[in-house]
Amino acid sequence: MPSPNIDTIVSLAKRRGFVFPSSEVYGGLGSAWDYGPLGVELCNNVKQAWWRWLVYERDDIEGIDSSIILNRLVWKYSGHEDTFHDPLVDCRECKVRLRADKLALPAEAKTDVADLIRQKQVKCPNCGSSDLTEPRPFNMMFRTTLGAAADENDPTALAYLRPETAQGIFINFLNIQTALRRKIPFGIAQVGKSFRNEITPGNFILRTREFEQMEMEYFVRPDAEHFKLVDEWVENYVEWFKGLGMDPRNLRLHEVPKEELAHYSERTVDIMYRYFPERPEEERQWEELMGIAYRTDFDLRSHSSKSTDGEGTRSNPDSTEDLSYFDESTKQRFYPHVIEPAAGVNRTVLALLMDAYSEKTNDKGETRVILKLSPQLAPIKAAILPLAKNKPEIVGMAKAIKRSLQPVLRAVYDDTGGIGKLYARQDEIGTPFCITVDHQSLEDEAVTVRDRDTWEQERIKVSELAEHLLKRLKPGVPGHAGS
Ligand code: GAP
Repeated sequence: MPSPNIDTIVSLAKRRGFVFPSSEVYGGLGSAWDYGPLGVELCNNVKQAWWRWLVYERDDIEGIDSSIILNRLVWKYSGHEDTFHDPLVDCRECKVRLRADKLALPAEAKTDVADLIRQKQVKCPNCGSSDLTEPRPFNMMFRTTLGAAADENDPTALAYLRPETAQGIFINFLNIQTALRRKIPFGIAQVGKSFRNEITPGNFILRTREFEQMEMEYFVRPDAEHFKLVDEWVENYVEWFKGLGMDPRNLRLHEVPKEELAHYSERTVDIMYRYFPERPEEERQWEELMGIAYRTDFDLRSHSSKSTDGEGTRSNPDSTEDLSYFDESTKQRFYPHVIEPAAGVNRTVLALLMDAYSEKTNDKGETRVILKLSPQLAPIKAAILPLAKNKPEIVGMAKAIKRSLQPVLRAVYDDTGGIGKLYARQDEIGTPFCITVDHQSLEDEAVTVRDRDTWEQERIKVSELAEHLLKRLKPGVPGHAGS
């Protein structure tokens, strides 16, 4: 069963409470989305799996949660004030705003997009007009002002919402290295919101102005094999995505060409996901899921008070710290180099939903949606369903089972329909186990556990239920998506 298109996921997400269009009662807010009861659980499970994998299971990575609003100078010296631009183009005819680097160019065009626009060879994708303005740089950082009395135009009050979580890590490098007595190589991980005033947001949660990142900065020696480390982290992440349940056929690598690298990067490999399987051209089916960059020592050096340029002039007169590292074993002082795997929570969630989506037809010829999420990521792990909701003993027993499971795993009680409907609802949201309590349960203290993917049923003693479920919920248990 091929992955569906994004529209199928948008409608499932709204119907079942994963993701809603934001501010809908006021007509919405272009490309902003709210995560509902199931969406927030799924996002949390992805973030927790990532944190466990990097911070808990490895011995060389620490965690941090830095501010979203940082001193404006961070963004000056990180290069974002000067270079975090997208090329903006306006259509004079229909007034739509476009990104020059995303415009479709005539086949085999050799000159750059600005020339082609001047020569009227580029058409507006909205209205077909070729009356477009020349590209001009548009800084994507969201601006705000700090302080109650701040005048909007007061440059001393200007601040930005962070466009990447990475800078909060760089400026804390020395704090963490010394407080935790870390030796290089080691990494610092952060998960949190980032903001970019995207010119053309869209495609559901793929490109939004407010999104969540899971970033890790891995600090290594200047003479480490940086390109090889990039390859290693690419491989680690591909394995991690596969472990979460992504189909490897929907993943591929893209070596970012030199001329498209971000200002800090010497090499970047993107892991791409097939978000648009319905598109006829293979090339246009793929979009970035995450990137792994070799950022050199660019950031630590730029934020350092002592760093100098080629002529010996101090390049950062505003910083009060030197973020260099002293290597005891070699007695050398240097600015560590950085390998950065930067992933998006929202793009990961979208890819997981697309890969998990499947349809199955039952004996009666009815087609049902089954969301084959890896059990470790499923928003609800077990649904407790009484077979007779007018029988107080059965209802009481089902509710007691729900309460007893809740400290161990996320469980819900539901008696709002016939059993067929209740199963179908849980399949559609990816609940790996449905537990039915029936008349016999009152006698033998046992319940029926139904598997989401096989629809097979097993009788399990209530006293052994929690252990049984926990064993089957563990990542790597055969028979489940993501194992
Ligand atoms: N610190 C490096 C950095 O931020 P990036 O490639 O610009 O690199 C990393 O962003 C990841 O963040 C992307 O691969 C994507 O998953 C996610 N991301 C970036 N912009 C996004 C947006 N507008 N909406 C949703 N996710 C986004």
